[in-house]
Amino acid sequence: NTERKIIIIPGDGIGKEVTNEAVKVIEHINHSSCDVVNYEYFNRDADFYLEHGYILKDSDIKSLTDGVDGILFGAIGDPRIPNMEHGRELLLKLRQSLDLYVNFRPIRAVSNCYSPLKENRVEGADMVIFRENTQGLYTQVGGSVAGVDGTQAAMDTAYYSTHSVDRIIREAFEWAVANDRRRVDLVDKANAVTNIGQLWRTRFRKISKEFNHIETGEHYIDAYCQRMVSDPRSIDVVVSSNLFGDILGDLGAGVVGGLGITPSANINPQSGIALFEPVHGSAPDIAGKGIANPVASLYSLALLYDHLRLDKWGKRITAAVDEYLQMASSHKTPDLGGEAGTSDVTEQIISLIDVS
Ligand code: NAD
Ligand code: IPM
Ligand code: MN
Repeated sequence: NTERKIIIIPGDGIGKEVTNEAVKVIEHINHSSCDVVNYEYFNRDADFYLEHGYILKDSDIKSLTDGVDGILFGAIGDPRIPNMEHGRELLLKLRQSLDLYVNFRPIRAVSNCYSPLKENRVEGADMVIFRENTQGLYTQVGGSVAGVDGTQAAMDTAYYSTHSVDRIIREAFEWAVANDRRRVDLVDKANAVTNIGQLWRTRFRKISKEFNHIETGEHYIDAYCQRMVSDPRSIDVVVSSNLFGDILGDLGAGVVGGLGITPSANINPQSGIALFEPVHGSAPDIAGKGIANPVASLYSLALLYDHLRLDKWGKRITAAVDEYLQMASSHKTPDLGGEAGTSDVTEQIISLIDVS
């Protein structure tokens, strides 16, 4: 018997709905095998924040990590808290205080029928984004300032240390080597944002020399977005800053079929602490309707099983979801052109998981 322990943070909106589906898969595997994943909920959401005025205290963090092998996250965000104060206090604080500096966002065209692109442009696309997850424009340094033109102004500071840049670049190269990838592209805006741009490019060139079988590219974010749409198959492994990685992740999702299907992992490779979540948010526009696509959450669960060193199940969940995505669109949720509900999708996927 192998036992693991995870924490589940469903969050808000469809975060709760899709996480509930992931739990059904965990339960199914727990009952069909000797690999048992025990879970505890950390139910902090917008309601909790509105009632208590906080969502995550420093003293909570121990309970999310002590004896815990991984965290499964849904999504956070609620229209009653329009400035997303609680989301930053929960998700960004977890990423920063647990130092989850790798945001791994794989984007695969499993079936070309969901892409808005012509199929010959997207078929086989397999892009992997390594998003720096702790610094950049996400450090919350800034505020209201007196503007040079006499009007009130606002400032947010983008900040990068060599240490942070090095470790995410190195992670992208090491992953590329371990996974037989050919190329790592650095994506930045070094022509306009020059100080940070120079730091990243200098470190990228230096570190790339240690990986001389891997081809490299240095690209500007604007043109790279165009390329992600017009020629996604030419993109292999990408390393980028916090904000650009965020944007490329959603753009890539759009190219292969939308936010309903793309997973992510937030990892600290040194401590082994990691949080898994769909790339999408709480989707207030469809929350409560029972039509959210659980696929992104189920692929995230597969990444979590890999992390738990139960990669047999990671592979089997991924294979089942891949097979499901290749089925006719009538079996799909509305985002993929069907009329199925959230739990119908999970039921079909569970029936495809090999439990032999
Ligand atoms: P969103 O990702 O929640 O939704 C964007 C669009 O995609 C919506 O039309 C939504 O219905 C659709 N969509 C997303 N996931 C889907 C799924 N699983 N199935 C079907 N359709 C899906 O982005 P948004 O609307 O910009 O943000 C909503 C809230 O979520 C905001 O508060 C935002 O700050 C927050 N957010 C949180 C996270 C996170 O928790 N990691 C990520 C992104 C956004
Ligand atoms: C994501 C989200 C978050 C981010 C928001 C909700 C702060 O978009 O996880 O991609 O920008 O990182
Ligand atoms: Mn995002």
